[in-house]
Amino acid sequence: MSIIEKFDGLARGYSEHDYADPARYAERRADVVLSTGPAVAPGATILDLACGDANMAEPLLARGYEYVGVDGSGEMIAEAKRRLGDRVALTHELIDRYTPEAEVDVTVCLRAFYYPADRVAFFRDVARYTRCKFVFDFDPRVYSRAEIERDLREAGFAKIVLQPFFLPQRVSVPGPLRVALTLLERSGPLARLALRVRGIWFCAAVPSR
Ligand SMILES: C[S@@+](CC[C@H](N)C(=O)[O-])C[C@H]1O[C@@H](n2cnc3c(N)ncnc32)[C@H](O)[C@@H]1O
Repeated sequence: MSIIEKFDGLARGYSEHDYADPARYAERRADVVLSTGPAVAPGATILDLACGDANMAEPLLARGYEYVGVDGSGEMIAEAKRRLGDRVALTHELIDRYTPEAEVDVTVCLRAFYYPADRVAFFRDVARYTRCKFVFDFDPRVYSRAEIERDLREAGFAKIVLQPFFLPQRVSVPGPLRVALTLLERSGPLARLALRVRGIWFCAAVPSR
C-alpha cells in the first residue's frame, strides 16, 4: 500500500481520530507558525502543503490569513471540502510536483516534510515560490537537525529559526500542564534537553532573496 493509499483510508474523520484535542492543537500550531521567524500581517497567503483534512485552515482564517491547501490524497481533499466547503482553495496534487500559480507569503508543511523523495529539490521549489518563510515541524529523535539545516541552506534558505513545541498530539493535557509546557518551550537549554526525550521542533526557514 502506498503512503497516499494509507492516508486515503484514514481521511474520514481524520482530525478526530489523529488528534486528542484537534481544535486546540491546530490553534497552538497556528500560534507557533505565525510567531516563529519573521512576522506576516493578516491578509497574507499561507500555503499548507500536505494539508490533510486542512485542520489548519480554521485558526488561520480566524486570524485573517488567506489559506490554500494541497494534498496528494484525494480522500483527504474530499474530507477538507466536506469540513470547509468553498471557504478555502484546495488542490489534489503531490507536494513534490505542485507549484502555486503565484508566489505565496508563507508555506507550511506539518508532519509531512519527509514525504518528498528528493528533500533538497523539494526545499528548493518551496524557496522559489515562498516570499517570507517556510515553516515545518520535525522530531529531532528521528531526523537530524544538522542535516535538515544543511539541506535548507543548500536549497537557498538564508536564515533558520527553531522553536521547541511540547503540546502532545495524541493526549489531551489539562490547563495547568499546558501552561507549564508553554513555559518549557521558552526555556532555552532546558527545552533543548527535554527534546532529547519528548516534543518536536518547529523550523522557520527564510529564503535568501
Ligand atoms: C501525517 S498527515 C499530516 C496532515 C496535516 N499536515 C496535519 O498536520 O494534520 C500527512 C499528509 O501528507 C499527505 N502526503 C503524503 N505524501 C504526500 C505527497 N508526496 N504529496 C502530497 N501529500 C502527501 C498525506 O495524504 C497526508 O494527508
